[in-house]
Amino acid sequence: MRVAVVFDTPYEGWTPDQHAVQMKKDLANWKKAEPDMEYQVAQALQKNGHDVLLLGIHDDLRDMSARLADWKPDLVFNATEAFLDNPSLDYLVPALLEAEGYRYTGAPPLALLVTRNKAMAKKILAYHGVNVPAFKSYRVGEQPGDTVEMRFPLIVKPLGSDASEGIAQASIVHDVGALGERIKFVHDRFEQPALAEEYIEGRELYATILGNGDKTEVLPVVEMVFDEAGSRPEDRIASKSAKWDMAYRKRRGIRNVFARRMSKLAKERLATTCYASYRALWLRDYARIDVRLAPDDQIWFIEANANPFLSYGHDSAEAAHKLGLDYNAFIHRIVDEAMTRNP
Ligand SMILES: Nc1ncnc2c1ncn2[C@@H]1O[C@H](COP(=O)(O)OP(=O)(O)O)[C@@H](O)[C@H]1O
Ligand SMILES: [Mg+2]
Repeated sequence: MRVAVVFDTPYEGWTPDQHAVQMKKDLANWKKAEPDMEYQVAQALQKNGHDVLLLGIHDDLRDMSARLADWKPDLVFNATEAFLDNPSLDYLVPALLEAEGYRYTGAPPLALLVTRNKAMAKKILAYHGVNVPAFKSYRVGEQPGDTVEMRFPLIVKPLGSDASEGIAQASIVHDVGALGERIKFVHDRFEQPALAEEYIEGRELYATILGNGDKTEVLPVVEMVFDEAGSRPEDRIASKSAKWDMAYRKRRGIRNVFARRMSKLAKERLATTCYASYRALWLRDYARIDVRLAPDDQIWFIEANANPFLSYGHDSAEAAHKLGLDYNAFIHRIVDEAMTRNP
């Protein structure tokens, strides 16, 4: 097939040929630096026998439109995570693909918009009976009143960010004063509403989901584990440092591993939560759901990622690998899902 890989890039104005040259360089240099996700996906597609166009977008959707019209892909692999460097504009790319009638992989604009707004996603899931922490959102400039109808500690996060932007130990607050301060911090720093929600003590689990309809499956679950010695439970969150700072991870004994033992009941609840959330949030082909498992075996929905990171060796690819899908097979499976629902 002819598969166009569409992705956001800082390289303004680069042609597909320029990306092809860069891709070759980056792949050759893999041992020293991980190639960008789009290049990894493109390589897997090529190894699966497809003809690949590398279509980087910075600020020009018309260029994408023209190149696709010219090249006529059978499928677009949507690897965009942002537009104009802004992750909350990620929905524009599939919106345009839809308007122009292309088949593409992954979530539709609605799912991207709904999951990006962590309050809206939880409202929808509450309607469907999924366990979500109690929460309240505060628009820019808004502050909590003297009493708050949630149980402290709370965690305060930007309403629409990802990659743990704005999430640090200081996000966890124990009283109204600290809540107000952290809300203001989120407003000032991220120029968006703040979401305060009840902090769920428990294990941190990430479930990658593949497929559609009756054939949806939850892959082996990944757990972020922390050295418990010398840390309080609320220190054990996937803050920005816990996710991205390798030295910090080492110091705190933070690792992503396949989920350790859990009860049969917890497993069942986890699966139910994943299927229900995936369906209710209009997710498609693949996604990742973040949950917490509390000591009483309740599963709590934290967040859905409509277009999770797909690079080799990271949570989703590792989960697929555990199931017997090597990286090429994993990418192939996503292509297959998109083609099957849209023959
Ligand atoms: N209600 C909560 N209770 C406990 N921990 C939470 C809660 N919400 C977020 N966290 C912690 O913060 C991390 C990042 O939050 P999340 O909503 O997934 O943001 P992001 O989109 O940046 O990944 C979670 O993985 C978890 O460790
Ligand atoms: Mg998350």
